[in-house]
Amino acid sequence: LAASSGFLNKGSLTFPSVKINVRRVRVGSARQGHKVIAASAPETWMAPDDFKSAALVSSREQYQEMYDRSINDPGGFWGDIAEEFFWETKWDPENVVKSNFNMDDGKVEATWFAGGKTNIAYNCLDRHVENGKGDDIAFYWEGNAIGEDSTLTFSQLKDEVCKTANYLKSVGVKKGDRVIIYMPMLNELPIAMLACARLGAIHSVVFGGFSAEALAQRISGSLSDVVLTCSAVMRGTKSIGLKDIVDKAIAITSAEGFTPSTVVVYDNTRAMAKEDLPMVEGRDVWWNEVMSSMSTDCEVEWVDAEDPLFMLYTSGSTGMPKGVVHTTGGYMVYAATTFKYVFDYKDGDVYWCTADCGWITGHSYLAYGPLLNGASQVVFEGVPTYPDAGRCWAIVDKYKVSQFYTAPTAIRALQRSGDAIVKQYDRSSLRILGSVGEPINPEAWRWYHEVVGDGRCPIVDTWWQTETAGHMITPLPGGWALKPGSASLPFFGVEPAIVDEKGNELEGEAEGLLCIKSPWPSMMRTLYQDHARYETAYFSAVKGYYFSGDGARRDADGYYWITGRVDDVINVSGHRIGTAEVESALVTHPKCAEAAVVGVDHPVKGQGIYAYVTLMEGVDYDEDLRKELKVSVRSVIGAFAAPDTIHWAPGLPKTRSGKIMRRILRKIASNEIDQLGDTSTLAEPAIVDTLIDLKGNVK
Ligand code: WT7
Repeated sequence: LAASSGFLNKGSLTFPSVKINVRRVRVGSARQGHKVIAASAPETWMAPDDFKSAALVSSREQYQEMYDRSINDPGGFWGDIAEEFFWETKWDPENVVKSNFNMDDGKVEATWFAGGKTNIAYNCLDRHVENGKGDDIAFYWEGNAIGEDSTLTFSQLKDEVCKTANYLKSVGVKKGDRVIIYMPMLNELPIAMLACARLGAIHSVVFGGFSAEALAQRISGSLSDVVLTCSAVMRGTKSIGLKDIVDKAIAITSAEGFTPSTVVVYDNTRAMAKEDLPMVEGRDVWWNEVMSSMSTDCEVEWVDAEDPLFMLYTSGSTGMPKGVVHTTGGYMVYAATTFKYVFDYKDGDVYWCTADCGWITGHSYLAYGPLLNGASQVVFEGVPTYPDAGRCWAIVDKYKVSQFYTAPTAIRALQRSGDAIVKQYDRSSLRILGSVGEPINPEAWRWYHEVVGDGRCPIVDTWWQTETAGHMITPLPGGWALKPGSASLPFFGVEPAIVDEKGNELEGEAEGLLCIKSPWPSMMRTLYQDHARYETAYFSAVKGYYFSGDGARRDADGYYWITGRVDDVINVSGHRIGTAEVESALVTHPKCAEAAVVGVDHPVKGQGIYAYVTLMEGVDYDEDLRKELKVSVRSVIGAFAAPDTIHWAPGLPKTRSGKIMRRILRKIASNEIDQLGDTSTLAEPAIVDTLIDLKGNVK
């Protein structure tokens, strides 16, 4: 397997553990601290009969019938669903899906609804307004501080999107152009996304936690001429200046020869006074000023089903972040359909996803999926623990939230604050709880279920990725029994496969690499300007399959248990970070010679970042240097990627060919010193004992 793929074969960045069974879900809760082997969790939970009978999918049999059709007749299944949307020109019904996943030459291509023309913003907004739903609430916006809130109806949202689109047009943005959006969770963030979509421009949202350097990389990588941003944002009690970071990023891109022509700045007076913000003459404009004179009518640009809708960077196990590209038609149909069935969406529901639009979850299950369904949703600017750990439940009660969708890291953090604060709130509006972004350990699952959901609400543990753009393996809440820690069964149209290290698909109960064997409508189509990397990174490790980078086990009931990444990607609080990226950031420090980064279990974040560093000749390691190294990572990537722990290493355990043995580093980092395994192939085995001795000084 390893030999067949460049991806698995990059010197010291070699795949660490294609040998499966190595790392399992074992994020013990803080209090219990023990390892949880998901396989040993015996219990199941089934939604009560009245819930099931009211659900869109009420039984495993009903699911199976739909699922079988989705696999045997994907064109018919997805074609019927696609009819519910507005298409300016219909797709070719003979060719709903075309793909060559299984070609010998390694070329991968997939198209859905080819020949069709539509517009996703039209389907999110105009379609509902024309159907008499214009006065329904689209967004209940809730600010960082208590008492800050506002609403937007579907027709108001459409007006705002049209104004923004008209402005973008006025500065020359047209179909196919890239637009960078670097904003906090104001309504203006999804508005900007929809405005791009209305024009057929490709949005590239950059999470507000990324540093100037990371932002610069994304601006010049996509040659985006327009950047939409905001003066500053409040995170709890701290004001964070985003426009200042944009200025720094553009200074970097300009030095490399690319300067965006326009920066649109939303004036967020709650976080920063307007007078405090320097504006660059001729480049910077105030959002609030330029939009006010724009018309609320903006013609829709009809785009091909396969025209790109957005790009979003994500981390891989090697090299630079990858610009994942998603197209229009298949994405629209899949985001809407997964939203509808996984959250069992009904008219009158109020849905709330806590994700930021800077990540794929905020794209598919905030900006697009809910709006395509005409759903009312909460858009929350703040953090779950401000002003206190009751904030989420206060918001649930305030808006009578029926579906609540968040990440295990938030659940674990709230669990630590105890049950009493949860119980101060009513929460009886909750019908379904969702989890996304990382494996949910059974302790956190049970707490979420029993305390937050009062034992009433199904939990949909949704496994998917930036690359898949929509839920892939997930419970349907009324469909079948849930097992804490299992994402359960594939969504319609998804054919998972468990593959062994030789690339053979395993049947029945099995554990191995999690792959997908046929195209689904929202699969990524390419990496921005790098189709070859797309083919090698995802389709060459296991021939004929999409390889997810995750391991999984399938049990006797056909349920899938995600065991976590098997490559050098770590998942910190649901943020996906490549160890290689953190390593390159550390070695930007002039005193750092080499770095090796591994993930370690963390009681709240899921995984923490543990970095080994070797220093330049003659440099002494001290507390100041430790801090500086962290600052290096903050400034190259962002604060969320800063190592939790730095371990000074006089040398690293390497094979004679110079490959770092991360397996050993992982064991030392997790204090599993009795399980180091074979160290005889090391060039200098003594370094292992030295590193163990030095653990005493590690911070
Ligand atoms: C990686 C994808 C899914 C959108 C947000 C993250 C991990 C995601 C689960 C889950 C176990 C999960 C996987 C995956 N992951 N959801 N329910 N159970 N693991 O998207 O940043 O692209 O990360 O997150 O390891 O590969 P992403």
